[in-house]
Amino acid sequence: MSAKSEYRKTLGTFATGVTIITTRHDHQNFGFTANSFTSVSLDPPLVLFCLQKDSTFLVAVKKSGAFGINILSRKQEELSNKFANPALMNEQRFEGITYTLSELNCPIIKGSIGYLDCEKVKHTKTGDHHIILGHVRHFSRHGKTGPLVYYGGGYRNLIRE
Ligand SMILES: Cc1cc2nc3c(=O)[nH]c(=O)nc-3n(C[C@H](O)[C@H](O)[C@H](O)COP(=O)(O)O)c2cc1C
Repeated sequence: MSAKSEYRKTLGTFATGVTIITTRHDHQNFGFTANSFTSVSLDPPLVLFCLQKDSTFLVAVKKSGAFGINILSRKQEELSNKFANPALMNEQRFEGITYTLSELNCPIIKGSIGYLDCEKVKHTKTGDHHIILGHVRHFSRHGKTGPLVYYGGGYRNLIRE
């Protein structure tokens, strides 16, 4: 096994939740699947995510100045795949999806179990990704469905909810 593939597999031993990160600019929705989301600070409430350097999301979030973190439920695996599909344009990813717009004008996807509405405060290019830091301005939790979990390159369910 190559060092690169072993490295990826080692990273995959870290279980995460799955999010769809959204923004809206010029009446157009943007969104992609991410598991690099993490909380950075509670006071002030800061979060970050990492974004591949060539993503169209970067231009959109720079212009909108805001992003939304939709935390996916175990029932949203299909949605996760749709928003991770590089062959789909941003608008195609939102086709057939029910959403509302947040106070910062970002799509809140129906069925997500948690939502964080963030003002973008900083972005830094690091290696082949950008680190985007946001200040959480609004947040909400929805329903009692368990989370979608990503581990070892595949989706998992928690045994108990
Ligand atoms: C579970 C999972 C987690 C992912 N996490 C990230 C991530 O944190 N950052 C990232 O840039 N891409 C991540 N991706 C890949 C993007 O979703 C994918 O490359 C997508 O096509 C990016 O959107 P774009 O084509 O509009 O740039 C992840 C994919 C999956 C399936």
